[in-house]
Amino acid sequence: MPKAKEVIKPIGGFYDLQLPTGNEYYADLLRLNTGRNALEYILRQKAYSKIYIPFFTCDVLLEPIKKLGVKYEFYSINERLEPIINFEIEPTACLLYTNYFGIKHDAVITLSEQIPNIIIDNSQAFYSEPLPGVDTFYSCRKFFGVPDGAYLNIKKKLNKKLPIDVSYNRVSHLTKSIDLGIEAAYADSLINNKLLENNEIKIMSNLTKRIMCGIRYDECAQIRERNFFFLHQHLKEFNLFQFDFPTNKSPMVYPFLYDDRNLKIHLIQKKIFVPTYWPNVYNWTSAGMYENYLTTNLVPLPIDHRYNLKDMFYMLNTLKQVL
Ligand SMILES: Cc1ncc(COP(=O)(O)O)c(C=O)c1O
Repeated sequence: MPKAKEVIKPIGGFYDLQLPTGNEYYADLLRLNTGRNALEYILRQKAYSKIYIPFFTCDVLLEPIKKLGVKYEFYSINERLEPIINFEIEPTACLLYTNYFGIKHDAVITLSEQIPNIIIDNSQAFYSEPLPGVDTFYSCRKFFGVPDGAYLNIKKKLNKKLPIDVSYNRVSHLTKSIDLGIEAAYADSLINNKLLENNEIKIMSNLTKRIMCGIRYDECAQIRERNFFFLHQHLKEFNLFQFDFPTNKSPMVYPFLYDDRNLKIHLIQKKIFVPTYWPNVYNWTSAGMYENYLTTNLVPLPIDHRYNLKDMFYMLNTLKQVL
């Protein structure tokens, strides 16, 4: 029998990008290329006939659903951002719940006890650990400077060897923004986001994994918590979104709900780039619906590891010019 070809490790030559070494946060979970493909993995593995998804989420999640021809139906959420379940979930159907902004961990626990076929989208909740036996996925680029990458908590693996993704062709916005600033790199970020569409399920690229191994997770988490706490102290009396203060879960953003659609415009004019979650919700909902209102009036304030308290103070003062 011919021997398997030995792979010879090259020695010498130039140095590759030097990244800090360390450990991943979810070393025991399955590494995949994107959050949407993690959902595809679950749908393939569990072969659900139907999925209930929230009106308030990102439309890229429809990619795997449509690709696999799974039936889907939207459901509404209440003012606590929890599902209004006034329908029966068939035994072969599942329900997708988003851990909004990373502050709905308690709802995830309760819902997981009530709904047998639940899928948790923790794309906005990197630091919310998966519950045992609950299919849960994460999208790395929502929290860290990586081009792609996802983690998946699922018991049974697909019976199929997956190819390993490559990401080197999708990092220009990450490198350009260091040299030229975030505004100069914005167009690249749109192009690279587009490249994530309609890809097959692959294993997380070596590049993304290497970056994920070099992150100081505890430090990033603490900064998020500190900034969130600071904003909450100063904004809770104005915030129409009432929530229990999240402990130890390092949210993605500070969700500030305010009845003035000009607030976002004001912030953006002052170079505080707040996103809209999610423009596609306008296509899925009508004017009177809560999700429609949230899309217009919810202002997600950045609180991540890039910002110190001085930045938070500046953001707060800029915001208060409108309140
Ligand atoms: C709530 C939510 N879940 C999942 C995803 C998909 O993650 P990915 O881009 O890694 O596929 C997104 C956006 O892209 C999102 O906003």
